[in-house]
Amino acid sequence: MALLTQAPKGTQDVLPRDSYKWQYVEGLAMEIARLYGFQEMRVPTFEHTELFNRSVGDTTDVVQKEMYTFLDKGNRSITLRPEGTAGMARAAVQNGLLNEALPLKVSYLVSCFRYEKPQAGRLREFHQFGAEVYGSDSPACDAEVIAMVGEIFDTLGVRDLRLELNSIGCPECRARYHKALKEYFAAHMDELCDTCRERLEKNPMRILDCKSPVCHKIAKDAPKVLDYICEGCSAHFEGVKARLDALGMPYVVNPTIVRGLDYYTKTVFEFVTDQIGAQGTVCGGGRYDGLLAEIGGPKLPGIGFAMGIERLLKVMDACGAEFPEQPACAIYIGSIGEAASVKAFALVNELREEGFWAECDTMGRGVKAQMKYADKLGCRLSCILGDNELESGRANVKNMRTGETHEVAFDDLIDFVYDAQVAVLTESIRETEINP
Ligand code: HAM
Repeated sequence: MALLTQAPKGTQDVLPRDSYKWQYVEGLAMEIARLYGFQEMRVPTFEHTELFNRSVGDTTDVVQKEMYTFLDKGNRSITLRPEGTAGMARAAVQNGLLNEALPLKVSYLVSCFRYEKPQAGRLREFHQFGAEVYGSDSPACDAEVIAMVGEIFDTLGVRDLRLELNSIGCPECRARYHKALKEYFAAHMDELCDTCRERLEKNPMRILDCKSPVCHKIAKDAPKVLDYICEGCSAHFEGVKARLDALGMPYVVNPTIVRGLDYYTKTVFEFVTDQIGAQGTVCGGGRYDGLLAEIGGPKLPGIGFAMGIERLLKVMDACGAEFPEQPACAIYIGSIGEAASVKAFALVNELREEGFWAECDTMGRGVKAQMKYADKLGCRLSCILGDNELESGRANVKNMRTGETHEVAFDDLIDFVYDAQVAVLTESIRETEINP
């Protein structure tokens, strides 16, 4: 029976007391992306398995070990998306979006599914905010995307994130690099895990992100891709760096970043923190100039990124980033007796129509229990309606924080609640001015 009240391993609930943080972070990221010209796209949670095999790559850990794949009742192989890029690319091709004005810029909020070993910051269902640009191969586009990520983190108050940058070149550079890797790893053949031994022939670069400790150790001294990239890719990388320099955006070149997904070409990047333990990559992305053609679309370049919302919230907590105050109930209108309860119900409705969070009793509680509930909700104001109030058309409205009371006519209640809200806002602005 315990199973019924226990969520599956590696999943997390977002509780009412925390959901405002999610809404804040997601809303702000989407809003900044809008200023950079991105529009939201929503795609299905599951796709044909083949899409991920082709795009993410069938020798990656994600495809080989981590996908939630099943046969549906029509005997089709279906996979819950392990990431957002493949589905976005599929949707852009299928819906003819790439025949319209380019570059096409899309943003998204998606849940992703990977059967990984759960640990702090690593879940089996997690959430990403991401964005993709299709149609531009200019280094300006890479720098623009990276700058946007930087601005999102800055606006959210995330500090001490390191931008790590690398270039993994084009298919020609890759062929040279693969040759060098094969020679290097062949000398360690006996020590590699079974999966990596298979990878050695097909895709030796994937050995570099194997999670087995032995392979990981061997990979540390492997040849670095930056030493094998061609002149064109090198110039492209210089172009990206020059634009980040022009923005004064700090970065470090980390020649060991290859990313765990096969579709990348040229620029790859990660935003990394040391503040949340081993899973410190909060955002990852890069260019993928062959992906759209690989899945049957036009021969157009692309670039994008995704940040993990769970990791982002973790790093915000760790570095003391501020969240806006949790919204509070503006007024609780308590009541004694049926007639007063009906009046309270009507007044609350009017207040809600004016955009205020207002509450009244729906539990048939006594007045003491009603006030206890109002207190627990953290209501800013409260009043109690009884026969006298109904007769006079006025109520004593109490400020729950200061204890002050004011007699207010029912007709003036909306104005009174409005003034009280303004006073709270002014107070909090003054406080942030004194203690910024
Ligand atoms: P990724 O590096 O696999 O890239 O994931 C992006 C981010 O998702 C990570 O940096 C991390 O914050 C979060 N993440 C990944 N796996 C987990 C997990 N098991 N638990 C919690 N968070 C996780 C991609 O997914 C690419 N599609 C990014 C991209 C977009 N590249 C180009 N466009």
